[in-house]
Amino acid sequence: MEVLLKRQEISTAVARIGKQISRDFTGESVVLIGVLKGACLFLSDLARQIDLNATFDFIAVRSYGTKKVTAGEVQLIKDVTTPLRDQNVILVEDILDTGLTLTFLRKHLQQHQPRSMKIATLLDKPSRRMVPVEADYVGFKVPDRFVVGYGLDFNERFRNLPDICVLEEGEQQ
Ligand code: IMP
Ligand code: MG
Repeated sequence: MEVLLKRQEISTAVARIGKQISRDFTGESVVLIGVLKGACLFLSDLARQIDLNATFDFIAVRSYGTKKVTAGEVQLIKDVTTPLRDQNVILVEDILDTGLTLTFLRKHLQQHQPRSMKIATLLDKPSRRMVPVEADYVGFKVPDRFVVGYGLDFNERFRNLPDICVLEEGEQQ
């Protein structure tokens, strides 16, 4: 598969985001909320680059339409268990694509009345946006190609690839 982002570039970007978060929240604590399952690898590397009092939690959603097409409906399948009231929440996502997932999650988590809420995404595909949502921390802007690896999957496969690769049409079996 064609490598789009090598592991070294990913780790440099993750370190940069960790520094930005550490600087933006100096003297405060943060709650990192990873969107299962794709953001797991990003969250675990990012957390180690954040020099603050930090805790984590996880949330999971299902979006209708598997494969490469987002169908538009997002459903919560696992909620957080951490109390978020008055906390600095950072939603951690693998990729911001149409924006439907993060729009849904942001609205859902606002109900917990956090002190602040930011979005950190490793990848951003701005050309695919259907609803207006922007991330506060972005690793890379990527073109409209389907990517896998470093947590990102195609039908649950390829999450364990250390680099981010482009999935070509013939490789989907
Ligand atoms: P959104 O709701 O369209 O912004 O979708 C975000 C979700 O779609 C991500 O959490 C991924 O699970 C999935 N997704 C979007 N683009 C890709 C891709 O290129 N590769 C793998 N998953 C993707
Ligand atoms: Mg995902």
